[in-house]
Amino acid sequence: MGTLFKNGTLVTASDMLRADVLVEGEIVTLIGLDLPADGHTVVDCTGKYLLPGGIDVHTHLDLPFGGTFSNDDFDVGHKAAAFGGTTAHIDFVIQPKGGSLHDGLATWRKKAAPAQIDYAFHMAVTDLRQDVLEEIPSLAAEGITSLKLFMAYKNVFQVDDKTLFRAMQVAAEHGMIVMVHAENGDVENTLTPALLAAGKTEPKYHAASRPPEIEGEATNRAVVMAGLANCPLYVVHMTCDESIEALRRGRALGYPVMGETCVQYFFLTVEEHMAQPDFHGSKYVCSPPIRTKHDQQVLWRAVKDGTLQVISTDHCDFWFEGGKGPWQEWSKAHNGGDWVEYEAQDPSYRRPGKELGLGNFSKIPNGLPAIEDRMMMVWDGGVNSGILTPSRFVELNCTNPAKIFGMYPKKGTIAVGSDADIVVWDPNAKHTFSAKTHHMRTDYNLFEGHTATGKPVMVYQRGNKLVDGDQWFGKNGNGQFIKRSTHAPVL
Ligand code: URP
Ligand code: ZN
Ligand code: ZN
Repeated sequence: MGTLFKNGTLVTASDMLRADVLVEGEIVTLIGLDLPADGHTVVDCTGKYLLPGGIDVHTHLDLPFGGTFSNDDFDVGHKAAAFGGTTAHIDFVIQPKGGSLHDGLATWRKKAAPAQIDYAFHMAVTDLRQDVLEEIPSLAAEGITSLKLFMAYKNVFQVDDKTLFRAMQVAAEHGMIVMVHAENGDVENTLTPALLAAGKTEPKYHAASRPPEIEGEATNRAVVMAGLANCPLYVVHMTCDESIEALRRGRALGYPVMGETCVQYFFLTVEEHMAQPDFHGSKYVCSPPIRTKHDQQVLWRAVKDGTLQVISTDHCDFWFEGGKGPWQEWSKAHNGGDWVEYEAQDPSYRRPGKELGLGNFSKIPNGLPAIEDRMMMVWDGGVNSGILTPSRFVELNCTNPAKIFGMYPKKGTIAVGSDADIVVWDPNAKHTFSAKTHHMRTDYNLFEGHTATGKPVMVYQRGNKLVDGDQWFGKNGNGQFIKRSTHAPVL
């Protein structure tokens, strides 16, 4: 027998209506009014919304970065995601220097072995040699239909313009989409040493080394190139007026260009957060940096008016107080990895984290914890304030991510035939964010002490219950790889 979600209000990107939803096996089989119980397990959803599972298309689980690895992996990170109403995500495979795309993919497939929610991969290309160009069509056939290129992180991930343009041409030829981290890495790489030489070493100077102009400039460059290559482009983690304007211009010219912002950029500012004393500002160091109240208003307008299509997280979390225990010895002995095992030896042991950048902002690992908090914070800041309708919320957090990245209608909506990824959302329930209670493996929460109204009370993945209140029902290995299609729509 199936599971019948009764008496709830179904919210999709287009509608909000009273409906019962029947799930049999892993899919939705019937939607209707007053469906009979017929021996099914009934979930009473009176006063609740039924939302499609959230999709976070920008995550970095277990990422080697900034002299350490991000804390959350495909086990802990998945559990945290599901507690926040996210049932699928797309993580970035990184091509190793000198290696192939498939070398990177093999590494990420191993990382994903304990998966508890569904996942897919983008491919971050760091070295586009001829043999790598030739691998791209086989990637698409394996369901990895997006290429990511970094215009920042000089001498680490950054590629030059010729590489970016060539990648766009090849992606367009194979029905794939190109994603860019748009910041001018050469300018940042010039500003950073000058700031450090002037004694400006605190976390807030990370923002000064990456001003909004370099995001706007790089966004414009990528947008124009995508227009010339006629390649679908998706600009990740957009933060400011300058880049939104560049995207808006490209869209007005009819270029196939889209963009996302991430939850943190709506709520955090340099002044209030990065400038906090005693190195607390490091908790908020990410690239591009958090900006100003003005930019927050620009972002809310852009998600409302359709200039931006998606809200994601760029989840990439590190300890604030990391580097505890004999981590240097462990790192040497284990070639820099195995941090979960290291931390399991003693509850006080921690891999290195933000403290790596004490006295030098450029050495602070870049990234923030957000995978658990996205849906609740965006609902609270966007829907409760009247900026977004519940349907637009679903579109930005569930449906558009699935459409743009070739997963729709299997994912991203509640419809007959779709995967039964369902969130029972209580619009009146309150949630107070805290590192003491969250499920992410970090010692701080970006929104510590803030109380949001509206939260997931039950979460289902392909018909299986993952979350019920505070209880966890997921199992390692139950998360499945999502094979994505090519030629996805440009929205
Ligand atoms: O600070 C960030 N964003 N860290 C993760 C890597 C990236 O640039 O997306
Ligand atoms: Zn990035
Ligand atoms: Zn990222």
